[in-house]
Amino acid sequence: MTTVRFVNGDEGPVEVDVEPGTTLLQAAQRAHAPEGSACGGVCACSTCHVHVRQGLGLLSEIEDEENDILDKAFDVVATSRLGCQAKVLREGLVEVVITRESYETWYNEHPKERHERDERLKASRG
Ligand code: FES
Repeated sequence: MTTVRFVNGDEGPVEVDVEPGTTLLQAAQRAHAPEGSACGGVCACSTCHVHVRQGLGLLSEIEDEENDILDKAFDVVATSRLGCQAKVLREGLVEVVITRESYETWYNEHPKERHERDERLKASRG
């Protein structure tokens, strides 16, 4: 079993345990983490872009198609992956940061949750 922890810029982390072969996007959906997926997970949009902070070696290798799509993403770093393409293969802890592009896409597709998030952020800022 592998634990996948999702972090984004505005909220605390959420975690989920997954079986080998699970993509980071599938893990995010199980954890109710706000990771975008505008193309539905077919490697065509880059809105599932995450930065892997820990456990990069536990994931499947990056392939050419994923690299091509990552070229279109904002804020690409050496540990960037597309959540719909990166599969968990080995046991351990994987921690990923959901990029701003990705979680803003998710919230744009989930207006109720976006409103609730905005209210939480407003309240926390006093
Ligand atoms: S969901 Fe579109 S590239 Fe991953």
